Formats: sequence, C-alpha cells, structure tokens
Amino acid sequence: MSIRTVPTQPFTDQKPGTSGLRKKVTVFQGPHYLENFVQSIFDSIAAPQGATLALGGDGRYYNREAIQVILKMAAANGFGKVLVGRGGILSTPAASCVIRKYQTFGGIILSASHNPGGPDGDFGIKFNSSNGGPATETVTEAIFARSKAVSEYRILDAPDVALDALGETTLGVMRVQVIDPVRDYADLMESLFDFAAIRNLLAGGFRLKFDAMHAVTGPYAREIFINRLGAPAGDVIKAVPLPDFGGGHPDPNLTYAHDLVEVLYGDNAPDFGAASDGDGDRNMILGRKFFVTPSDSLAVIAANATLAPGYKKGIAGIARSMPTSAAADRVAQALNIPCFETPTGWKFFGNLMDAGKVTLCGEESFGTGSDHVREKDGLWAVLFWLNILAVRRQPVENIVREHWAKYGRNVYSRHDYEGLPTEAAQGVMRHLKSCFDDLAGARIEKYTVKCCDDFSYTDPVDGSVSKGQGIRIFFTDGSRIVFRLSGTGTEGATLRIYLEAYEADSSRHHLDAQVALADLIRIALQVSELELRVMRDKPTVIT
Ligand code: G1P
Ligand code: ZN
Repeated sequence: MSIRTVPTQPFTDQKPGTSGLRKKVTVFQGPHYLENFVQSIFDSIAAPQGATLALGGDGRYYNREAIQVILKMAAANGFGKVLVGRGGILSTPAASCVIRKYQTFGGIILSASHNPGGPDGDFGIKFNSSNGGPATETVTEAIFARSKAVSEYRILDAPDVALDALGETTLGVMRVQVIDPVRDYADLMESLFDFAAIRNLLAGGFRLKFDAMHAVTGPYAREIFINRLGAPAGDVIKAVPLPDFGGGHPDPNLTYAHDLVEVLYGDNAPDFGAASDGDGDRNMILGRKFFVTPSDSLAVIAANATLAPGYKKGIAGIARSMPTSAAADRVAQALNIPCFETPTGWKFFGNLMDAGKVTLCGEESFGTGSDHVREKDGLWAVLFWLNILAVRRQPVENIVREHWAKYGRNVYSRHDYEGLPTEAAQGVMRHLKSCFDDLAGARIEKYTVKCCDDFSYTDPVDGSVSKGQGIRIFFTDGSRIVFRLSGTGTEGATLRIYLEAYEADSSRHHLDAQVALADLIRIALQVSELELRVMRDKPTVIT
C-alpha cells in the first residue's frame, strides 16, 4: 500500500455555511471535490501525528463512498486511528458523544441534516473539534482559506475497508475501529434521564409515536424506546434508515412530518408525538392535537429541568440563537441565571458550554440540546419531554398552557421563502438596511418602531466577532421582526422571516400564532417589499 500525492486545482466555492459545507451530491461526486475539502480540513487543524479521529455520517446517498475516501486520506495524512460507526453511520449527536467519550482529536461528520438526499439530493461534510462540537468560525474560515489554495492531496492506495462488522482492522499503519453507533449514545441518555419513571409511564397506557423519517435515528429510537423503555414496536415509525429517506424531506416540522402530524391530530391520537431529522439533531414535539414550538420547548425544558436526574442540581445558564423567541429568557430571569443570545448555528454555543456558562441551548429551527454533547440532540429532547411527562403526569398541552400562564406567551412563527433568485433575495436585505434611518421611530399601523440593526455578536469567551447575522426590527411593545438569509441551502437563496410578539394576557393565549401575528406578517412584507422583489405571494414553509 502506498501513499499517492494527487495534484489538484482549488475550488472557489468550498465555504462552510451555518453547519459545514453543503452541496448537491453531484457536486461532491465531481473529480477531487470531496478530496480537496478533506485535505483542506487536515491541513488546517494541525492534528498531531498518530491522532485519533471519529468518523460517521447520516447514511444518506454517497455516505459509504465518502467514508472510504476519508479513511484512506486519514491514513495518508498521519492519523493513527479512526473510530467509525458501523456501516459508516453515526447520528450527529452520537458522533459528538463518541468524540467526547473517547477523547478523539476531533471528528468528521457527513450530513446535510434535514435537506433531501438521494442521487439528486444534498450531501454535506463538517469537522467537529475535540470538545465534540462544530468547529468555530475561526477554524471554518481557515479551512475555507486553505481550500482556495490547496494544490495536492494525499490518499492511500488501498482496497475499501469492511465497515459492516464491529471490530478493528488496519489501513496501512492506521487502525480502523468499527464501533456500535447506538450503544454509547443510549448509555449516555440513560445516565441523564429517569428511564424507570418513563418505563412506568409507558406501561401505564401512555401512548407515544416517534417518527424517524427513514433517517438516521431509527436504530437509536428502537434501542431506546422499544428495547430499553418497553414501548410497543409500532411506536417507532419509519425506523429503517434509507439513503434517500424514502423520497421524503427529513425535516421534523408541521409541513414535512405531515404523516405524524395527521396521527397526532386524528381520532384516538396518542398522548405524545415526536420526530427527528436526517442526522438526528433536530426534534419536533407534539401533544395530542397540539404543537410545541421549538422556542417554547426550550423554555419548558429549562423551567422543568430539575425533574430529570442529570439536571437535578439545576442549570448554569441558557443560550438561544438570536431569531429564537425570548420565551427562554423569561425562564432564565425567573431562575436568576444568565441567558445568552448567539448567531444562528450550533457552533456558537460550544464556547459557552465549554466555559460552563450555559447548560441548555436551543434554536427556533427545531434544535434543542445541552452540555452532555456539543451538538443539538433530537432524541435527547424527546427523552427530556418524556421525563417531564413521567413526573408531571399531565397532557403536553396543559404543561405548555400552564407555562404560558406563568411566564406569558411569546407568540412566534417563521416564514421561509425557499429557492429564490440569489440576487433578488440579497436585494431585499440591502433594501431593508437602507431603510434603517427611516424606520427608526416610524409609526406603522398600531406599531412604533423602536430601533433596527444588523445583528452582530461578540463571543464572550474568545472575543471573536461575527457580523451581519440578521436584520432586526424592534417595536416599542416588545414585538420584533427578523430577516435572515439561510446558510444551509444548496439552491438559490432562502430568506427567512421570524416574527415574535409577547402576550401576557392569558385570555388570548389560545389564539393561533398566524392569527395573532397577522399584523406583523403584513408589516414585514410591506417594509421588505419582498413579494414584489422576489415575485412570490406566499412562503414555502411556515413553522
Ligand atoms: C438552519 C437553521 C439553524 C440551524 C441550521 C443547521 O440554518 O436556521 O438554526 O442551526 O439550519 O441545522 P440556516 O439555513 O437558517 O442558515
Ligand atoms: Zn440536522
């Protein structure tokens, strides 16, 4: 077996977005595309000779091929050992768990998260550091810079490694250990939550339905819910991971997880429903005929955290991404703990968790997690809810309504306009910025604009500054509108509008969010001139 040094030309478009590099599968299949990026990672992270790497992906189309390439490149770049999930598969939170548990130098995760898969779908790759979390912006910028200059990559000439049986093999002098992707993760969950109480809840007739969306969490959910918690086998649906997610869009929200939504809103509905995304880091929580917004879910988990054994001593602080509603802030205030507002993307939470400043983190985009790993964690959130339900023995809806009665309700919605012409979408953002001066103090319908800005964040731990993280318009009554361009799409541009209003009056808490936010939605469209500029008369997805 010999190491081959392959000459290559740099690509100009390998800039990692909100969560790693995401492109069409066909782009990654192009000559040298994957190899260039992997070499750029290895050149940037300066791993010591003989270091250990974790490796796995969400099992989507091209996962297997990419794993083999990365293994051979790791062997040629001086790594001593790679821990790889069986079949090349690890959920994103499980990969984070493996990096931390086995103290590897870092890990490479192959995923395009909730984006569709298959030969015409999306693929993605990202590097996670030794804390188990997505590389910070400083590192991703260095990888991008390297990708624009890389002129050769190193790869071992070797046959493919067998990945379907547990155990150790070698690739040149590098060891490859195929690990059980589920066991370490399930053990970690069992150490955090009261499995006996949840087992009791389920044995008492409480009915659950978990939709794995034919994505990576199927085997994890089966092990945890069925084998360890005693749920009937039929409670986990779409449990077989498929490379194209069965043709679906593996994003757990009211639009794409509609099969589950129909069950929970149908006759004889179960008590609790949940779903996770392509790589297992997102979650959706449903009660019987009731949807819990991710922002509320974070707040409810924070307010009830001490009910779970792993959090019984309390939480140090909470962090939420800027567009996420301020529901969690109210809980933090009541608990007298700090609440941090970060840019969108889990990579901004890592420093806060490492410094012990926060325990819980969340994003409005169906992401919730804690410092047990350094990724958001879908099944963790589901188990947290089950633990709360096992102790409180109330329907999901009552728990949320009681929460609103105590803290007030942050009425919230996000409207996404997907697949827009990039130039037109950027034009909307430029137009909004040009209106800042006119908007400040302006009266629009019954609202008065308090101020507007383009969100900028200074990391309180390392002092790094991230600018241009979303346009915010604040109103004097505490409501706000946020506009942001997505950093995960692979086709055109996606513009997101985030709408939030605070309602203290519990007689108005029953209102549908779209109704309660109708004025703000109209104002957002008027101020941004969006419909005219991008030629759309309705959003693609409303969450
Ligand atoms: C989206 C979400 C963001 C999340 C990311 C990865 O990014 O909005 O909260 O961290 O996916 O799951 P966006 O496409 O908005 O850049
Ligand atoms: Zn994901």
